[in-house]
Amino acid sequence: MPTTDANSLRRAFTQFFVDRGHAAVASSPLIPTHPTAPMFTNAGMNQFVPYFLGEEAPPYPRATSIQKCVRLSGKHNDIDELGKTRRHLTFFEMLGNFSFGDYFKEDAIRFAWQLLTEVVGFDGDRLWITVHTTDDDAEAIWHDTVGVPLERIQRLDKDNFWEMGETGPCGPCSEIHLDNGPEWGDGGGPAHGGGDRYIEFWNLVFMQNFRHPDASLTDLPTKNVDTGGGLERWLMLLEGVPTVFDTDAIRPIIAAAEELTGHAYRAGDDKVDTALRVIGDHARSMSFLVADTVTPSNEGRGYVLRGVIRRAVRRAYQLGVERQILGELVRSVVEHMGQAYPELRQKADVIADVVDREEGRFRQTLRAGSILLDEELDKGRVSGEVAFKLHDTYGFPIEITAEIAEEREVPLDRAGFDAAMDRQRERSRVGAGKAVITTTGIDAYRQILHEYGPSDFLGYQTVESDGQIVAVVRADDLSEEERSDPRRVPRLEVFLDRTPFYAEGGGQVGDIGTITTPSGVARVIDTTPALPGLHRHVVEVLEGDIQSGQEAHAVVDALTRDATRRNHTGTHLLQAALREIVGPHVHQQGSYVGPDRLRFDLNHHEPLTPEQLEQIENLVNEEVLTNQGVRAYETTMDHARELGAMMFFGDKYGDIVRVVEAGNYSVELCGGTHVHALGTIGPLKITSEGSIGSNLRRIEAVTGTASLLSVQQDERSLERAAAMLRTKPDEVVEGIERLLQRQRELQDELKALRSQAAAGEARRLVAEAEGGLVVLRRDGRSGDELGDLAKAVRGEPGIRGVVLVGSPDGERVAIAVAVAKDSGLVAGQLALEAARACGGGANPKAPEFAVAGGKDVTKIDDAIAAVRQALGLGPQGR
Ligand code: SER
Repeated sequence: MPTTDANSLRRAFTQFFVDRGHAAVASSPLIPTHPTAPMFTNAGMNQFVPYFLGEEAPPYPRATSIQKCVRLSGKHNDIDELGKTRRHLTFFEMLGNFSFGDYFKEDAIRFAWQLLTEVVGFDGDRLWITVHTTDDDAEAIWHDTVGVPLERIQRLDKDNFWEMGETGPCGPCSEIHLDNGPEWGDGGGPAHGGGDRYIEFWNLVFMQNFRHPDASLTDLPTKNVDTGGGLERWLMLLEGVPTVFDTDAIRPIIAAAEELTGHAYRAGDDKVDTALRVIGDHARSMSFLVADTVTPSNEGRGYVLRGVIRRAVRRAYQLGVERQILGELVRSVVEHMGQAYPELRQKADVIADVVDREEGRFRQTLRAGSILLDEELDKGRVSGEVAFKLHDTYGFPIEITAEIAEEREVPLDRAGFDAAMDRQRERSRVGAGKAVITTTGIDAYRQILHEYGPSDFLGYQTVESDGQIVAVVRADDLSEEERSDPRRVPRLEVFLDRTPFYAEGGGQVGDIGTITTPSGVARVIDTTPALPGLHRHVVEVLEGDIQSGQEAHAVVDALTRDATRRNHTGTHLLQAALREIVGPHVHQQGSYVGPDRLRFDLNHHEPLTPEQLEQIENLVNEEVLTNQGVRAYETTMDHARELGAMMFFGDKYGDIVRVVEAGNYSVELCGGTHVHALGTIGPLKITSEGSIGSNLRRIEAVTGTASLLSVQQDERSLERAAAMLRTKPDEVVEGIERLLQRQRELQDELKALRSQAAAGEARRLVAEAEGGLVVLRRDGRSGDELGDLAKAVRGEPGIRGVVLVGSPDGERVAIAVAVAKDSGLVAGQLALEAARACGGGANPKAPEFAVAGGKDVTKIDDAIAAVRQALGLGPQGR
């Protein structure tokens, strides 16, 4: 019984494979997770990649799924074919069955044939098969097991090798095609005939390889199966309709588009038909993308979604539709597909809202840009400059300009556009799009300051506030391609009219936190002054996008800010204590105040003693325990001087200054953020003191919980040391003393044993003396050991001279020479003789004892021979 509607086909497919032991697995989201994954889920196999690669054990040996797929980027991008062929879609459902090291070609092929011919209702005589040029096995199975005549099996090369992306799992594949008859094109099978006649509708991939970034292929740990068939294509063939858009899976959505645009489908106007097909296809893509959390933006996935929505809007606009229609159109997608994909129903309002807003924005753009583009089209050529202006000023994606130009059969200077883009990148790091700022770098900041004035800093009172984004400037200079990489988080500089974020200054680091607008969320990774008074929030956009003019909610990470405040007030107390203990000459030469620690550089000519450091620590902590208030206020510079406020000479101060009084212990000019009461600082612990230059010392310290952590860490180290010494923490010092004593004893013992051993061996070597001379090779001893041995031999009666050469480790050469006082020999000269032979040197003046080294261990015997010759000894006997 033929299966000719989407729901019964989905059911029949799943049931067939479940009956054959497959786990029915739900579709995964359109955003894949594996590191090798493409931007969007492009095949049923994406969610199973870890099993193919052997990274995870598959929970079932075989599976079946109906996977939502989007082919709008990367290796599998069908946007150019969309609307032009019978069978391409940017969103489709993929029917698939999978084996993870379980069955392979034979069962995959048998299952496919059985399902197609016995269950779904395809006519086996009209099916054609292609296999990879190398795949004799697959051909044999199709022919011998299934019975397909050899005339209907063809071999293809690249077309029958499927790959997920530029890298990732891949393998040879076998494709199943249906011959639609001569009215659709030339015969000759899929290898030769027309693509509309032989429609490929099921791909059986024998997933056995991995493509590496350098293009090489290796084997996967197991042989697997990954099949994929486009549900809409199957329906087109089974329903006997001319295109996928005429199937019951999509036709209802086209019908909704007909109604909304007021244009009838298949009423004899190809242009209208193509527009309705693109609108119908895109309505599905955008609905599913938004349901899976993508929102339109200028980056990555959001940029692709923006393109989808904008293309659909443009087609509607072309059809003369003046009002917004997408919000309603996506409701028909939800209605029609919501049963199979419940996420559509759950997110119905969000989908409609996101799409509707983007449509509204783009319609404004279109209205503005179309006039310019139409003028250009009338001239018969779209220049690169105008294409760039459309992109830069009107927000017309170049793809849309290209599409319109192609439709009107007017050439577009793409190279000119690319060059203009490059020039812009070069010129500026200032972003395009909605930025109000047209200049670059410091000029841009000046312009912002000029137009909006300094940032109103609220961070002394609060860590959270609402404000307005006055400008957004691109912080990183990425190419289009890099920008569309979903893994790259775009970095922007955001300027707010009012902000609780402290901008780095006076040694204190900038605040971090988040900025949220109605269209996006950004993480603030740093805040710095772009110009004095102008707070620059360096952000990474986490969701959606951030645009100038938007209302924004700015929230400083309070825990980090608190830790920084503790360290800042701690620094003031530290400076006061230093002046008290070390001397009034002490002045701050530089500082770092972050959430993790504080650093204070001071002018002083010698190391601070441990006693001084302890006193300083004690003084500071006594002040902390008073828990007095910290007051910060603005006053005149004259008044501040009267108060005796500490000033940092490196800084410039205006007439009005900010004074910070920490209890009654310290008064300093400071723009930083501070605790309100000294007790909040918690214990201050100095962690290091050292020199950083002549007359310059650096002190590092921690406060609050970091102090506790530092003490705890020390304690743990002490405990570990105690455990190793098998003693208690408070007896570690004695334990180490004992250990050192024992080490000294052992060294002495070792020395005695060595000299005993040397004496024993010396006696043996004497036996080999020739005329009172011992010249021998001895490996496996260090230079020192060789020297001891040479001396020991020399001490034996009748010995005039000893030369020992050998390698301690097989890599270097050691030479030791010892001669008797009245021997007439010079130790250094003999050592030099030996060293020369094996690539080394020696001091020839050394009178009675010399050690030397060489590099070439293969020349040790030559060295011995050279010394023997110098001493007038004949060649060695043995
Ligand atoms: N992964 C293969 C394809 O997408 C088969 O599922 O064609």
